[in-house]
Amino acid sequence: MATASRLPLRCWAEIDLAILERNLHLIRASIPPHMRYVSVVKADAYGHGLPQTAARLMHAGADLFGVANLAEAAAIRELSPDWPILLLSPLLPDEDRYVIEYDVAATVSSTDEVARLEAAGRAAGRPVTVHLKIDTGMGRLGVWHEEAPALYRKIRDSQNLKLAGVFTHFSSPDDDAAFTAEQRRRFLAALGRCDGIDLSALLIHADNSAGLETIAVAGPFNAVRIGLLQFGILPHSRSLLAQVQTTPVFSFRTRVGLVKRLPAGNSISYGRTHVLKRDSVVAILTAGYGDGLPRAASNRGHVLIRGQRCPVLGRVTMDQTIVDVTDVPGVCAGDEVVLIGGQSGAEIGLTEFSRWADTIPWETLCSVTKRVPRLYRTTLGL
Ligand SMILES: Cc1ncc(COP(=O)(O)O)c(C=O)c1O
Repeated sequence: MATASRLPLRCWAEIDLAILERNLHLIRASIPPHMRYVSVVKADAYGHGLPQTAARLMHAGADLFGVANLAEAAAIRELSPDWPILLLSPLLPDEDRYVIEYDVAATVSSTDEVARLEAAGRAAGRPVTVHLKIDTGMGRLGVWHEEAPALYRKIRDSQNLKLAGVFTHFSSPDDDAAFTAEQRRRFLAALGRCDGIDLSALLIHADNSAGLETIAVAGPFNAVRIGLLQFGILPHSRSLLAQVQTTPVFSFRTRVGLVKRLPAGNSISYGRTHVLKRDSVVAILTAGYGDGLPRAASNRGHVLIRGQRCPVLGRVTMDQTIVDVTDVPGVCAGDEVVLIGGQSGAEIGLTEFSRWADTIPWETLCSVTKRVPRLYRTTLGL
């Protein structure tokens, strides 16, 4: 009997690690040379696969990895015993000691966390590395900016904490330049009130992919945290970052399982939400929402077959999706179908695909399910 890995693919993602590496080099070249590159690889590296992606990003020269949890940190530790890692989410109290075991820098936002990590460091006989996070208006992690100097003093006076960085996170860098500037101002004002702080010895970071648009060359900032852009996706349309010319790393593909003719007036799929206006040829694809093709793309999305756009007809179902191929000659079972990516010069972008489901590229990448094998290529898209 054939093992699953030898079977032909029905729905898969292709990830081009050479493009990923080139993207990192291009982003680096577009930011001031003294800036450190914090590569954000949470959520399985935005669905691209953490071990494969992180290994290539190390090779490309990422300075530090940003992760969401200790399991992701542990996966990076399997690749490298000492590559710097920053945990971007709060620690649960019963996780504290693992930041020492995995040698991960923790994000601290409260006196409670400072006390807990101080105790963990004392118990281990080793200092815990921390970044102080300042809430300048995101309302998520971080100490409120007015209280940041007091928390800084607590960290400074702790015996078993080593402060390695201070950072904040912008809530609307893609669409509210005025509020982003206000967050930056609050951050700098808070730093200015941290008596005796040696900024040159710390990583000072605020900008993510969208924040790069307004990057301040002057000032104490010396690191950026890059997620989406390194995967070749602009954070928003009309982005100034279009000048960086990154290329998508990820494409999403499936195949035609069946082609058939149906008469005008026939309804398609569950709920009969589409009725054929003409005698049609339809193709049944071997992918559905069980793979990450969202049900919200029903009657809205398109796919590429033989280089042509084919509209989704009716509801996307768990394992199959029906598209109109009446105007595409020669479509047959087995043909490759592009859900996200390029084919014969045509293209369906991740941002366009996300819009069909009223969502954002970040969520789409996290929604491709584990049923979908990831194939790694190193071909620069060739
Ligand atoms: C704290 C933090 N920094 C940086 C990033 C990276 O953002 P982006 O993917 O937009 O570059 C994220 C992503 O959610 C984040 O939560």
